[in-house]
Amino acid sequence: MPFVDRDFINDLPNRVDIVGLINKRVALKKAGKDYKACCPFHEEKTPSFTVVPTKQIYHCFGCGESGGIIDFIMKYDHLAFVEAIETVAGESGISVVYDQTAKPVDMRFKRYNKLMEELSSFYQEQLKTSAAKKKVVDYAKNRGVSGSIAKRFELGFAPPGWTNLFDAYKDSEESTQDLLKMGMIVPKKDKKDDYYDRFRDRLMFPIHNTKGSVIGFGGRVLSSKDNPKYLNSPETPLFSKSKELYGLYHCRKYSRKIDAIIVVEGYMDVIALHQQGITNVVATLGTATTSSHLQVLSRTAETIVFCFDGDKAGRDAAWKALQTSLPAITAGLVIKFLLLPEGEDPDTLINSESAKAFNKRVDEAQTLSNFLFEHIKAEVPFNTIEGKTLFLEKSAALVNLVSYPIYQQQLIEGIAQTIGQNITQVEKAIEQNIANNTQHYYANALEQAEIVNQSFQTKPKRTSPSSIKSLMSRMISCVINYPSLVNDPETSSVIEERARKLPKSDVLVELIRHAQVESDLSKEALLLPYKSKERVYNRLKELSVMEPFLSEYEAKEEFGYTLTAAEKFYERKSTKASILSAKTHDEEKAVMQDIMKSKVSATRQKKS
Ligand code: UTP
Ligand code: MN
Repeated sequence: MPFVDRDFINDLPNRVDIVGLINKRVALKKAGKDYKACCPFHEEKTPSFTVVPTKQIYHCFGCGESGGIIDFIMKYDHLAFVEAIETVAGESGISVVYDQTAKPVDMRFKRYNKLMEELSSFYQEQLKTSAAKKKVVDYAKNRGVSGSIAKRFELGFAPPGWTNLFDAYKDSEESTQDLLKMGMIVPKKDKKDDYYDRFRDRLMFPIHNTKGSVIGFGGRVLSSKDNPKYLNSPETPLFSKSKELYGLYHCRKYSRKIDAIIVVEGYMDVIALHQQGITNVVATLGTATTSSHLQVLSRTAETIVFCFDGDKAGRDAAWKALQTSLPAITAGLVIKFLLLPEGEDPDTLINSESAKAFNKRVDEAQTLSNFLFEHIKAEVPFNTIEGKTLFLEKSAALVNLVSYPIYQQQLIEGIAQTIGQNITQVEKAIEQNIANNTQHYYANALEQAEIVNQSFQTKPKRTSPSSIKSLMSRMISCVINYPSLVNDPETSSVIEERARKLPKSDVLVELIRHAQVESDLSKEALLLPYKSKERVYNRLKELSVMEPFLSEYEAKEEFGYTLTAAEKFYERKSTKASILSAKTHDEEKAVMQDIMKSKVSATRQKKS
């Protein structure tokens, strides 16, 4: 993402015509010195949305929405900040001044962008002109894809033949290298400088970034005999599967107001829904939902509805999405799950029932908490005491992933209700669970659950004693064994600071500092400064034997998890203490608000 010059940003609103820019999107009527319209951000019949050109602002007296032109464009066009700056400048005929001290725009990216656009045009052209076009046109028709939707999504055809692209570009070394970098050609085995096309004889789906540039492709076979069914661009400098969402550009472009965004699994699901007028939809590209996906989604809509096939794979994907979602829940974000009937996906369903029926399913999607409880219930023999215990343990592990205190508290109440116990008991289980290092335990517990389901004999083993001391010991053990863990110049100062904030972390912090000063210290050298303090020294020696043994990579993960677990442990303790210290309902509310404020500002700091 390029950096825009600060002065340019500050000055831009003064150089543009706020009335003209808004009027392009919402028809404004003059009212005295100001302009009025029905508010685009809430439903209303009489206009209370006002644009005040003298102050360069807009304000809605109905819903309170207000700001300058950049805010308006971000909100109305669903754009990120820099994208909004670029849009406002572009529509006003002003060129954006980028920060010269920031990294210059890499010229290679311009070339890659141009190349991908060229290829997309080539594939679209082939859909009309290729000698082999009949089968792909028939295929698309059979699947009910209309001409205008094919155009909207710029569908194309990679013709049969091994080297259509390669041949077209092979005279230029630079172009060949660019094709390779974009993953569009693949080197032949054992042959230097000889390549073949990645996509052959496939229906092509260009993948766009939020600005609408083509950054990758997906290609579907035309016959069920061929495989793989879909081929996607590999990771390239333009394209990263874990970040992109297919259809996001089209969702923003073709949806007026995005209250809820539907997340589906496949290319054809997005396209089929668009064709039936449901445009608030994106697809993850055959990967699990990641936290970067969630960030983008939560910026686009206040409700996210994960829609998965009703088969086992779909349910597993939904469960994974739930686990990724828990840490991302914040005030105002609602996450829901829609599991379709067995054997159906959004594409088949929308073509066999109406858009209205599909929208009804979306409206009635299950809440996250509901899905969570139902899913865990089904994993354990719930009607036994053991089953309820297991339910408590498993749900505690998940509740610990939530960082939004109010939601966490609601879940705790939900658990208590479900198993018919009081909240204190549930909270106890949760604290135990934190001490037992949530994430690792949960991964094990999932596997264990399968066994437990079959015969209720083995209970997940607790691998460690449950106290904050043990978390500290584990971190120390990781650092002594792999001092390089805390040596990464990009993260080491943050780690030290985080460790410093934990109570009784003196020894850990000292060790981190030593390890940071010299990168390849031996265990002995690291412990040397403690030789005179016999008790500490002996304990550290015990901890220098890593039990169970972890690889450097595992130790790094473990260290990270444990640090977070320790932080959460104290955070929960202090949250609870301050809530308990409140004497009246109003005081309690004030405390909650303070907690929320500090959360929000912490998240903001992280984001910026
Ligand atoms: P599905 O197997 O559910 O297929 O894959 P689908 O979307 O219903 O496809 P159609 O209806 O048969 O055309 C869902 C998504 O997973 C990715 C693709 O992004 C696909 O849209 N996928 C699937 C792959 O990347 N490779 C594959 O071989 C299969
Ligand atoms: Mn399908």
